[in-house]
Amino acid sequence: VTLGLDLGTSGVKVVALDAGGQVVASAARTYPLLTPQPGWTEQRPQDWAAASLDALASVADTLRAGGWTPLALGLSGQMHGAVFLDASGDVIRPAPLWNDQRTGAAVDEIEGSIPRGELIARTGNRAVTGFQLPKLLWLRAAEPQNFARLHKVLLPKDYLGHVLTGQFFTEPSDASGTGALNLAARTWDMDVLGALSLNVNLFPEVVESWAVVGRLLPEVAAQTGLPADLKVVAGGGDNAAAGIGLGLGAHRPGVGSVSLGTSGVLFAPLDTPTPDPLGRVHLFAHADGGYHLLGVTLACAGALQWFRDTLAPDADFAALLAEAGTVPDGAEGVTFLPYLAGERSPLMNPDLRGSWAGLSLAHRRPHLIRALLEGTVCALADTYRVMRPISSLETLLATGGGARSGLWLGMVSGALDLPVQHIGHAPGAAEGAALLAMPAAGLFPDLQAVMDTLRPQGKAVPPQPVEQALKQHAQALRGLPGTP
Ligand code: XUL
Repeated sequence: VTLGLDLGTSGVKVVALDAGGQVVASAARTYPLLTPQPGWTEQRPQDWAAASLDALASVADTLRAGGWTPLALGLSGQMHGAVFLDASGDVIRPAPLWNDQRTGAAVDEIEGSIPRGELIARTGNRAVTGFQLPKLLWLRAAEPQNFARLHKVLLPKDYLGHVLTGQFFTEPSDASGTGALNLAARTWDMDVLGALSLNVNLFPEVVESWAVVGRLLPEVAAQTGLPADLKVVAGGGDNAAAGIGLGLGAHRPGVGSVSLGTSGVLFAPLDTPTPDPLGRVHLFAHADGGYHLLGVTLACAGALQWFRDTLAPDADFAALLAEAGTVPDGAEGVTFLPYLAGERSPLMNPDLRGSWAGLSLAHRRPHLIRALLEGTVCALADTYRVMRPISSLETLLATGGGARSGLWLGMVSGALDLPVQHIGHAPGAAEGAALLAMPAAGLFPDLQAVMDTLRPQGKAVPPQPVEQALKQHAQALRGLPGTP
């Protein structure tokens, strides 16, 4: 078997997959999220390490009992975070995360040093508050005594790789989420770093995602019960790893994914690093050696969760979704803008907020829910409009909690004018990380063969009418401040 580990924001998940891609063992552990100031989100890397070692030990137990031999371990995790290490490898301070918003001034500093178009052409993205590079500039400006001690800055899963192997490394899919990777060269952009007076030695070496970066340290093997010669594979950022799990890559450019989770995410594989010239969607390196676009609308199933928690605490999601099904396209004139958490793609404006409009005495709760779902779907359509000229999507595989709703998925299909296929038990980032480790384990000749053999099959979802909703959404968007 191979192991895959996903270092998420709420917790870590470890799975073991056999050569047929079946999960034979799994374990999960949680850790706290720190919010020391409004807009700040942090975690203690030491908590990640302890939880991960514990979850690995649990999976090792199950494997031993079942007579399975672990051959390699692939890593994946939340993107964009910054783990600051000193010369003895100690964590200097808690790690700011992907959704941390403290870096406004650092983003301005980057935009003042490198023209936006050039930054997008080199790195695939404009300067984004959540990315790692502005966090490093924040440290230099806000905590100079900590910056003076800084020896390496690592992404979350790469810190864990360091704990497991003692090595410093990263790979392109996660490294492109720093904002400092040259996408065409798949290595650190010396001109971007030079413009910001940053030393490249602060960053780890970049290897390909399926490469072996080391073997377990003896003390880690002893603590977890895993074999001391277990190969550790670089892996991928969580979106790229999940894409590998779904079999998405440049070899099948027509197949992408839509995830209706807390946020809504559109993933489109590309074989060249072609960004949106305005940087309204992300362009990252993919873990298959290619590239992918990523569009993120921040409130998707999270908007429905907010609705339930705030306005219908006794209702279950299935009942709320059934109510929405009783109201026609356009929710009889009600429109919802889903920007409860600001917005990334395509508006790139963290200050936007949500709203319902068009309410009358005749409207009832089902109208509010219908409009809410329509708003999330129209936000995905706004993102897809930016992706369409660069990508060649022909179909979408659907994942995430909201994908259990045929109505919601059908609305996505209608709004994007793309066939959507539902995946029953969708593999996630942990499964994708385990697949990335299969070539190193000798179970497949290369990653391509892994994905061709083990990709999941979807079931077609009938599209739903959304013309009226799209019209109302376009109307509601007029005058909203966003890109550029
Ligand atoms: C991607 C992003 C999130 C994190 C969360 O740009 O910010 O998907 O990777 O885990």
